[in-house]
Amino acid sequence: MARHLITSAIPYINGIKHLGNLVGSQLPADLFARYQRGRGNEVLFLCATDEHGTPAELAAAKAGKPVEEYCAEMHEVQAKIAEGFRLSFDHFGRSSSEQNQVLTQHFAGKLAENDLIREVSETQIYSHADGRFLPDRYIEGTCPNCGFESARGDQCDNCTKQLDPTDLINPYSTISGSTDLEERATKHLYLRQSEMRGKLAEWIDSKSDWPVLTTSIAKKWLNDGDGLQDRGITRDLDWGVPVKKGEQDWPGMEGKVFYVWFDAPIEYIASAQEWVDADKGTDWERWWRTDKGADDVTYTQFMGKDNVPFHTLSFPVTIFGSGEPWKLVDYIKSFNYLNYDGGQFSTSRGRGVFMDQALDLLPADYWRWWLLSHAPESSDSEFTWENFQSSVNKDLADVLGNFVSRVTKFCRSKFSEAVPEGAEYGEEELALINELTSRTRAYEQHMQDMEVRKSAQELRAIWAAGNEYLQTVAPWSTFKTDPDKAAIQIRLALNLIPFYAVLSAPFIPDASASLLASMNVTDTSWPEDVAARLSALQVGHEFTVPEVTFRKITDDEVTEWQETFAGTRD
Ligand code: 2FM
Ligand code: ZN
Repeated sequence: MARHLITSAIPYINGIKHLGNLVGSQLPADLFARYQRGRGNEVLFLCATDEHGTPAELAAAKAGKPVEEYCAEMHEVQAKIAEGFRLSFDHFGRSSSEQNQVLTQHFAGKLAENDLIREVSETQIYSHADGRFLPDRYIEGTCPNCGFESARGDQCDNCTKQLDPTDLINPYSTISGSTDLEERATKHLYLRQSEMRGKLAEWIDSKSDWPVLTTSIAKKWLNDGDGLQDRGITRDLDWGVPVKKGEQDWPGMEGKVFYVWFDAPIEYIASAQEWVDADKGTDWERWWRTDKGADDVTYTQFMGKDNVPFHTLSFPVTIFGSGEPWKLVDYIKSFNYLNYDGGQFSTSRGRGVFMDQALDLLPADYWRWWLLSHAPESSDSEFTWENFQSSVNKDLADVLGNFVSRVTKFCRSKFSEAVPEGAEYGEEELALINELTSRTRAYEQHMQDMEVRKSAQELRAIWAAGNEYLQTVAPWSTFKTDPDKAAIQIRLALNLIPFYAVLSAPFIPDASASLLASMNVTDTSWPEDVAARLSALQVGHEFTVPEVTFRKITDDEVTEWQETFAGTRD
């Protein structure tokens, strides 16, 4: 039994994610986790919410809530939606957890011990009224370039010029509105990433089997002069992991926290500790420490392309730099972007479909199928309502759903709701079994390789083969002249339903479960022997004709939904 540690990039806490976010990490990670479990392997599948940083503070302020309370609530919201999409995390943690705090401080201490952190003196804006240093985004003022009056300290939204807070005319704090600001000397910690260039390059070069999208981004940043600059890993915020060297205070760092991108990936490890502390598992080190049994674990990370630099450079620097035997990622599967109907998804403009809205329209399986079968693997892909309608109506309703319904209803009307008696499978049946055997092996290979679109294509072909068989042998005609032969045909067709359910479970888990229930089948083991599985249902085995497995999407719905999700502002 192989062991798979699987993590999905952890979504920011501020706000509900859109379908593009979902297909970029959590959903394909879930597909892989379900597949590996389906194959009988041991899986630990982790995710969490990414709760620190300025965006979380700003969102909480906007909601008029203390940031802890805001994060706790939004975590529950995201956890519930994840459940709605049937994301099968073993644990959905929180980067603001105690476990992550301790572990982040531990890593910082080790990095300092190994001389990979340096202290840098800088000047920064201090607000007397707020009693704190202000991050760039918390300072606004008049743009020196275009005169726009609410330019932010990092950039002017009107003319897009990149700014330093000290460039602003009449700067003020966005927290209190105070103009009583002062430039003050302060210290920050920098991670000496550049020290690790050679080690990182060697590591990335050894990953010839990784997706080109992953290695090309990693190499671009490695070889670009600025890409591996030392990075500031501390911030002047209240909300975050307090800067400490292990358990010790860090002189000069009082009141500062670690930068959100420093503690976020460490949460992958902390989430496993949370999983144990929540009594869901027993031994997290077995997954994360190569000195404690994790050397035979295969660790796969899923993420959107914008996250690749942090996972191929910064986080590995933390892991290598600790000098401790932490499990390093074995494979990074990254994704391009999903666009929405001729443009981008936009959270601020409410453009596109967000995860909660999607579930209000249709059950998870509809979305899972479309998103995975159109995953932005080799390039960006685009969601359109027409395309969604056509995939759902053809693949799910016509090919899979209709097959199930025709077979079970025909059997009920001509025989009974039980597998009919008949002789042995003939030539046509054996030909189908052969085809399905080789297609199943191809499907397994694509799933193992995390080729998401190819897996979906092969699965669709597996469904279609059943339909073609039914079209060709036409039991409804056979029945008139040779009811015995029709019984054989229907027996094979009935056997196909639980077989499809098991193979399809990683994509459409709910439909899969309800098909198995209708067919009165409890064996969910992987069909290693396809021929055996396709004669598993015994004569007389009872079933019930399932409810409609997938309904069609109407043209009126498409028109309505296009309108609803077009966005409120331009
Ligand atoms: O891009 C994002 O949504 C980030 N919150 C991903 C963090 S992944 C990891 F580092 F934890
Ligand atoms: Zn400007």
